[in-house]
Amino acid sequence: MRVILADQAGMCFGVRRALELVEAEIRKGSAPATLGPLIHNPQVVRRLEEKGVGVVRDPSEVETGSIVMPSHGVPRDVQDAAARAGLRVIDATCPFVANVHKVARRLASHGYLVVVVGDAGHSEVKAILSAAGEDAFVVGSATEAEAHDWSGRKVGIVSQTTQTPQRFGEIVGLIAARAKEVVAHNTICYATHDRQSAARELAPNVDAMFVVGGRNSANTNRLAEICRECGAPTFHIETADEIDVSALEGFKTVGLTAGASTPDWIIEEVKSRLEAL
Ligand code: F3S
Repeated sequence: MRVILADQAGMCFGVRRALELVEAEIRKGSAPATLGPLIHNPQVVRRLEEKGVGVVRDPSEVETGSIVMPSHGVPRDVQDAAARAGLRVIDATCPFVANVHKVARRLASHGYLVVVVGDAGHSEVKAILSAAGEDAFVVGSATEAEAHDWSGRKVGIVSQTTQTPQRFGEIVGLIAARAKEVVAHNTICYATHDRQSAARELAPNVDAMFVVGGRNSANTNRLAEICRECGAPTFHIETADEIDVSALEGFKTVGLTAGASTPDWIIEEVKSRLEAL
């Protein structure tokens, strides 16, 4: 099998930074706990657990020592609660995510209703909403944007960092046509943008696409969505063991991309397993 790796794929700057912060703590001899999974990749999280890095759901589960805020950010009150409990807080929030918090906070302080274009319930989105305060909510689709009454409102719009520019643009357009005033900040990060463009370029030119990354990873799910939109049979897998050889009959060339939390060793494993077919 011929395998073409997308020009931009795999771990981004924010995820590498978060991992380096935790690895540095481990080297000092004190494995910290992480508040929820550090990144959205179960295999990496398991490896960290083997090195003593526990995952907790709430700061109250940690009696003493350090706690790491994950790369996708946490609501401010949760971080404050950890500090009040006397824990050393290591903030691994990606600077691009922290910037969305800043923009959302500023829009709210200027009297805008803050709209986050994103996946309701996703941890990154919950943290952005908490930064914006009371007058904020999530819009996940054009249908939701059309259903809401925007008349007379001043609306400030930001995006979850992993959305597609197409969805963001469509929702901004719909709100702009109905609200009194709209300010939109495209806060999709460059890593998301580059990986999406590379997948969009590759998918139409191969027999099928493999998208490697956590099923809980928003940006990986988006990459799979893009490949399907391009008409390529698309397989979203977490590891090489999930390759279904029987489904690949007749395929000669496949494309490979990976989410921003997927480590190089998993991409390499998938690539060599496919090349051996
Ligand atoms: Fe940061 Fe973008 Fe990665 S927001 S964590 S650089 S996907």
